[in-house]
Amino acid sequence: MSAPAPHTFAILGTGSYAPSRVVTNDELSKIVETSDEWIHTRTGIRERRLAGPDDTTTSMAVASARAAIADAGLVAADIDLLIVATLTPDQPMPATACLVQTELGVPASAACFDLNAACTGFVYALDTAWALLASGRHRHALIIGSEKLSAVTNWSDRTTCVLFGDGAGAVVLGPAPADSPASGLIAAKLGAIPGTADLLQIPGGPSPLETEGRHCITMKGREVFKLAVRAMDEVARDLLSAEGYTAEDVALVVPHQANLRIIHAISEYLKLPQDRFFVNVDRYGNTSAASIPLALDEARRAGRLRRGDLVLLVAFGAGLTYGGALVRW
Ligand code: ACO
Repeated sequence: MSAPAPHTFAILGTGSYAPSRVVTNDELSKIVETSDEWIHTRTGIRERRLAGPDDTTTSMAVASARAAIADAGLVAADIDLLIVATLTPDQPMPATACLVQTELGVPASAACFDLNAACTGFVYALDTAWALLASGRHRHALIIGSEKLSAVTNWSDRTTCVLFGDGAGAVVLGPAPADSPASGLIAAKLGAIPGTADLLQIPGGPSPLETEGRHCITMKGREVFKLAVRAMDEVARDLLSAEGYTAEDVALVVPHQANLRIIHAISEYLKLPQDRFFVNVDRYGNTSAASIPLALDEARRAGRLRRGDLVLLVAFGAGLTYGGALVRW
């Protein structure tokens, strides 16, 4: 079988899951010295969701995946590639993707693996899946971003604990439907900035097993902010110009939801009005790899994604990694 052209693979369905427990800024101000005013002004965040006792990275991934598969009009048996982007797997091994596979009933012939590019994880997974589909060896990919960041949040550090939330989002990628052959992935670009690991990290890891609080996120917020804006602006420009588009052609940008000020800065740099950026950071905070698929699902349900629209996904995360993807919806 010869490999179809890359642009013939489209997002066929989306799904998401958010834990029911809402934590407001006012609630956080009871555990650390902060305020709704400070958090909202600096980040745009009003509230976030926190995993309940039954919510795990796997269970949230499964819930979002079920919705995405149903939305695509498929069943689990159709999936032959399963990638979970996460920095908070429930276990170091097996891969979350294998646990999700079993829960969903995805067949044994499917390739299943996790991918960690922190908050850029979903864009990395999308590009990886696209390349594998384009190879002709896979047909339907399930790509999930799922995070239980509350498990790696230092709840006594006000500089980070106000930023993060839990949740999951998923998409199914496959051959573009016959009635919209032009829809699909157009281009993607990934990268990582060397020498920046200490700006945003979880210093301790499973090897050796850490027990002294080094399993939590630490961050140099200001430096991350500047590099994030620069990297997302550059990758957006590079992608657009390589494909012969200008920012004006983009109907909707679905950016990684880390901070509203970062999103506004990119809107300014690209000279694109703020209303062309989908924003839900106010209600979820930063859910890392789950952020873009969760936003995509909400944007679609809100009628913000119309057939034929040029959509730009753009993200950055620990690494520091960055990436973008251009999609014809
Ligand atoms: N409440 C009240 N005051 C606070 C809080 C808080 N929650 N956090 C920090 N402050 C204080 C600081 O202590 C500091 O006080 P000082 O002036 O007395 O020293 C003051 O507020 C200013 O702190 P800055 O860190 O300079 O504030 P800044 O305007 O840079 O905003 C923020 C901080 C929101 C973290 C910003 O830098 C940011 O968003 N950076 C990017 C973060 C990000 O996007 N991370 C992505 C993670 S992606 C991933 O891969 C997980």
